[in-house]
Amino acid sequence: MPMRFLKQIRMTLGAMLSIALMGFALNLNADVPTPQIPKAVKGEQCVEETAFMRRNHMDLLDHQRDGTLRQGIRTKKHSLNGCLSCHVVKDSNNQAVTFQSEKHFCRSCHEYAAVKIDCFGCHKSTPDQSASSL
Ligand code: HEC
Ligand code: HEC
Ligand code: HEC
Repeated sequence: MPMRFLKQIRMTLGAMLSIALMGFALNLNADVPTPQIPKAVKGEQCVEETAFMRRNHMDLLDHQRDGTLRQGIRTKKHSLNGCLSCHVVKDSNNQAVTFQSEKHFCRSCHEYAAVKIDCFGCHKSTPDQSASSL
């Protein structure tokens, strides 16, 4: 019965592939270092779902790319100062670290993913209570 034989081979191959993939996933977890992301100091949750933020925070922020600033659809909810005040990292003197420090929240994944951002050439990298902070 050649048909049945073929089916069996296909099932075996399928099973082997799943096992290989599982091994691959396990390996990924074991071997690849993951970035140390500092925990937020405020808030039960982020301004959007954490998983969404991991992938899409740049789209909420990047005025140079998508022009949301000019179009005026940006809300206070996504202000940079808001990000910084919940995601502030303090040094041993209880001072907020600046973007100079590799402990800064916005560097935690970027170093690892080799992403470079120029935001803090203009914007303060520490949280500011005054609303008019750049
Ligand atoms: C050349 C200077 C410059 C650079 C570089 C720059 N910005 Fe801005 N940004 C501004 C100015 C000016 C404003 C408008 C002032 C305001 O709204 O406070 C602004 C406003 C914003 C706002 C809205 C206001 C706020 O504080 O939330 C966000 C968010 C923002 N920038 C994020 C970023 C991010 C993220 C980057 C890096 C990808 C970046 N900016 C790079 C100058 C800059
Ligand atoms: C009200 C406080 C608050 C504000 C404001 C806030 N966040 Fe968050 N954010 C959190 C919390 C809480 C989490 C969940 C993970 C944790 O506890 O650190 C989180 C998660 C994240 C993550 C995923 C981190 C991870 O562990 O994978 C990113 C990226 C992020 N936020 C970026 C931002 C950016 C960018 C802004 C500004 C647009 C912002 N957040 C504003 C509280 C906040
Ligand atoms: C959970 C990890 C993580 C954290 C924390 C994080 N980022 Fe990112 N960010 C990334 C990754 C990964 C990319 C590249 C994604 C891509 O290229 O699609 C990125 C890209 C960006 C970009 C676009 C850069 C470009 O050249 O396209 C901006 C702007 C940005 N992040 C801003 C920030 C700011 C501001 C903070 C701190 C408030 C921050 N990120 C914190 C992971 C993170």
